[in-house]
Amino acid sequence: MLKTMAAALGAILVFTSFALGQRKAPNMTAEPWWKYAVIYEVYPRSFADSNGDGIGDLRGITSKLEYLQDLGVDAIWITPCFPSPQVDFGYDVSDYENIDPMYGTLADFDRLLIEAKNHNIRVILDFVVNHTSDQHKWFVDSKSSKTAEHRDWYIWRDGKGDGGLPNNWTSLFGGSAWKFDPTTGQYYYHFFYPEQPDLNWRNPAVETAMFDVTRFWYKRGVAGFRLDAVDTLFEDPQLRDNTFLPGTDKFGRPNMDEKYNRRLPEVHTELQRLRKVADEYQAVLIGETATQDINQLEAYYGEHGNELQLPMDLELKDLPLSAPFLRDHIAAVDGAGGWPTYVISNHDIVRPYTRYGDGVHNDDIAKMMAAFYLTLRGTPIMYYGEEIGMENNDPKRVEDVKDPIGKIGWPNEKGRDGERTPMQWKAGPNAGFTSGVPWLPVPASSSTHNVEAEQKDATSILIFYRKLLQLRKTELALRDGEYVALNTSDPNILSYLRRSKDETVLVVLNISASKQRPHFDLTQQKFKSPRATALMQNRASANEGVFQTVTLEPYGVYIAEIK
Ligand code: GLC
Ligand code: CA
Repeated sequence: MLKTMAAALGAILVFTSFALGQRKAPNMTAEPWWKYAVIYEVYPRSFADSNGDGIGDLRGITSKLEYLQDLGVDAIWITPCFPSPQVDFGYDVSDYENIDPMYGTLADFDRLLIEAKNHNIRVILDFVVNHTSDQHKWFVDSKSSKTAEHRDWYIWRDGKGDGGLPNNWTSLFGGSAWKFDPTTGQYYYHFFYPEQPDLNWRNPAVETAMFDVTRFWYKRGVAGFRLDAVDTLFEDPQLRDNTFLPGTDKFGRPNMDEKYNRRLPEVHTELQRLRKVADEYQAVLIGETATQDINQLEAYYGEHGNELQLPMDLELKDLPLSAPFLRDHIAAVDGAGGWPTYVISNHDIVRPYTRYGDGVHNDDIAKMMAAFYLTLRGTPIMYYGEEIGMENNDPKRVEDVKDPIGKIGWPNEKGRDGERTPMQWKAGPNAGFTSGVPWLPVPASSSTHNVEAEQKDATSILIFYRKLLQLRKTELALRDGEYVALNTSDPNILSYLRRSKDETVLVVLNISASKQRPHFDLTQQKFKSPRATALMQNRASANEGVFQTVTLEPYGVYIAEIK
């Protein structure tokens, strides 16, 4: 399957020039750029504010490209920066082909593209495919009358009987998934907030319009899209009720299977069609693929490698910090037949620093997690601030909550503000993010965990990330090498080789709060008397001479080349 994928994937022609006087020979490398890339997610509201209004913007991002290049990232994915009423902070798009004035202009965007290119950084945008804002002109027309041109661009139904809803589907963000609209006396469907009506992808006009949106941005120079909530694209045409399951969700509603409004087979056919358009521009499609098991993840690559190049593995983030759990999961994703896309953090989930931190070894855990997801086979997607050890800063009072789910779900669900706080550039007021009042407060830890301070400290998380990202560029085995799990019954140590034809890199991670001394026998890997040359370590070292053991302090990391 990988072969078909690589072949189908707009191979990149690399021209190698030979010594003077010789012919230039085209050297086909079938590998597309994104395979060896590290992608960095920028939440534009919170990255850098150039005009003091307390909200980040495109000029802010442009001003930080040098930082990103030094860090070693190859592409940025910017979450929605299109015109939007900002009910869901941009995930409610009211115009797909423009920039929200709060973030700048199309000219600012074009400048960002040019500058990014100068810094060898590609730009990926977020495509909100399932729904628009209720303020989008398509929906405004759609709700105006039953015969409006765009009526069938959304999902409208009569209620059942006297005042009943069309069916029992619930919104992921609380309450029913149906909202009554008095103008025409029908309900419309919204998987997310009522301000995010679902598009009707069964209507060919919707498909055409949405495909054209992608072309609009590809032509400007965008390298690809992260597709939002792809599993919600289609609904059962008969709108059959879902089945209730035991227990209740975080909003106190009975759980239900999502058989009829999520993960319908039509999603795959549509992704294939979207991919064809992407292939016209050698663009990459990354998916927000909320999967429940490996089979679902595997399916998103497409049977012929013709759907998503990079379906995100979003299951990793829910696993406990435990060597056996991580080992089993990585084996499954690595074996799923496509190119893995690891995600441990994003704008919807509690930051790993907070999730995994034990209050004693937090910085070491942050380094250990970096050494983990950045040395696996695949394309990692980092979240801004990960590299400096940013923590969650959850609202303390419901009055302070900005994210609507936090308002609806308080106190069980505090919303996602905590993981969306301003990037911490330096110590001092508002962590150098804005000269005004930031839209969300920065946590106290910004006085120690910030770019300026960490740049000066050779032992910081930031320097550790930089070295790791550098290592991914210099060690071929880390780019291409196969993943070989070692010592697979060790309850505390996760260790593996990344092995390419000519090079072997060993990674040993102590996923425990106690000192460990794993023993390695690499004879099965054809090393008779192996020697280890350390490439990077944190609180760990190997024995002298023929390589046998590594000693690791709690959450220590040891990475070495083996010969
Ligand atoms: C995705 C986004 C999330 C948003 C939702 C609705 O899950 O990551 O932030 O709220 O889609 O668009
Ligand atoms: Ca939908």
